[in-house]
Amino acid sequence: MSALTDVFTLSNGVTIPKVGFGTWQIPDGAPAYESTLEALRVGYRHIDTARAYGNEASVGRAVRDSGVDRGEVFLTTKLPAEVKTAAGAREAFDASQKALDLGVVDLYLVHAPWPWDDMGSDHRDGNVEVWKVLEELLDAGRTRSIGVSNFDVDDLEDLTSRTDVVPHADQVRWFVGNTQEETTAWCRSHDVLVEGYSPLATGGLLDDEALARVAQRTGRTPAQVAIRYLLEKDVLPLPKSTTPSRIRENADVDAPLSPEDVAELDAVTTRR
Ligand code: A2P
Repeated sequence: MSALTDVFTLSNGVTIPKVGFGTWQIPDGAPAYESTLEALRVGYRHIDTARAYGNEASVGRAVRDSGVDRGEVFLTTKLPAEVKTAAGAREAFDASQKALDLGVVDLYLVHAPWPWDDMGSDHRDGNVEVWKVLEELLDAGRTRSIGVSNFDVDDLEDLTSRTDVVPHADQVRWFVGNTQEETTAWCRSHDVLVEGYSPLATGGLLDDEALARVAQRTGRTPAQVAIRYLLEKDVLPLPKSTTPSRIRENADVDAPLSPEDVAELDAVTTRR
């Protein structure tokens, strides 16, 4: 399944496998360990976690136990959204690196421009402060690339006008009917990779009628069509599942969609 090993190239030349295994909402311990191990068995070579998911230790242990060379696995983790000071960022990175126990991180993201319990609040100065720490971590070789998550155009404009390194990636909630046009266009024009979390709208997309029609026509499952749609748009999908058969299904996304299929999905406007 080449979608698992095909890569996007970040603006600093680092390559990143085109489909990542998302671990949001997978509890620490056996669920995170087993599902990450299963993903690696199936052939995923890109795992996405975060300090806030609370499962870094299990994810890291699964990568170490998998028998797959560390250099073949792309590992992302994230700075908790509420951390907006330099000292806090250094401490959080150290804690993530220790919990993961995988050495150098491949991609380190600022999880959100604001704390989750205060969405939309103004932390522009704090974001600049923590970004400078991410730049230091990059310089020191402790992470191979750096980026942001849940940043919109205003957030990106402000950060990039006040710092040196343009984020290598922006990870946003992206799926059929929620295609983040403005953020995606900004990222395209600044060579920032867009990563899509919740490509199935955390499951809520799977009963969509357009998706069902395209799935039936192409002989694929709705989940496969939904994930493939991101690849057709050069957005990196991060599907999550704890079910082995679905972990496998979600990686079997090499079959392209036709321009007509894509157009039908482009027309979906249901809010989810
Ligand atoms: P589960 O983990 O029980 O397999 P998203 O990636 O958008 O966050 O969606 C994740 C949700 O979608 C989870 O509830 C997951 O359930 C479910 N899911 C993942 N893959 C599939 C699939 N191939 N078919 C149906 N549901 C799926």
